[in-house]
Amino acid sequence: MTETQNTLVLVKPDGVARNLIGEIIARCEAKGYQVTNLKLLQPSQGLLAAHYAEHEGKPFYQPLIDFMSSGSVVAIQLTGHRVIEGFRSLAGATDPTVAAPGTIRGDLGRDWGLKVQQNLVHGSDSTESAERELALWF
Ligand code: RTP
Ligand code: MG
Repeated sequence: MTETQNTLVLVKPDGVARNLIGEIIARCEAKGYQVTNLKLLQPSQGLLAAHYAEHEGKPFYQPLIDFMSSGSVVAIQLTGHRVIEGFRSLAGATDPTVAAPGTIRGDLGRDWGLKVQQNLVHGSDSTESAERELALWF
């Protein structure tokens, strides 16, 4: 049996503004994962720069930082076997236009024609990212 994992889920400012916090957490809980830590915060520039360091220099980097600074974010530690992979599957593809129906981004997101995709949620993409990101946000 694999070890229990933790992942960082963020409800991004678009999800908070659209009153989808409960819907997103409900999908995580309905899948069977446990919320083991949670907070609502306005992330600082420093926190976002550290979180998105891998994207520095990309064309969507500054729009992404601006978008993530535009409102409150809910940070969630989600726990369970294979939760890192499992939440990425619940979230769906980065581009909400092509994200599969049934996923958070596919059901609840759309392209708004902006400089960066507003796609409701973030999920860590590996055990290393999850550990690094959870240490930043909690
Ligand atoms: P996340 O990190 O938020 O879970 O999303 P992801 O792995 O699916 O996507 P990633 O490549 O890590 O990109 C981080 C976030 O940047 C925005 N993005 N917009 N071309 C675009 O407009 C574009 N590319 C990336 C999205 O908000 C994406 O989730
Ligand atoms: Mg990512």
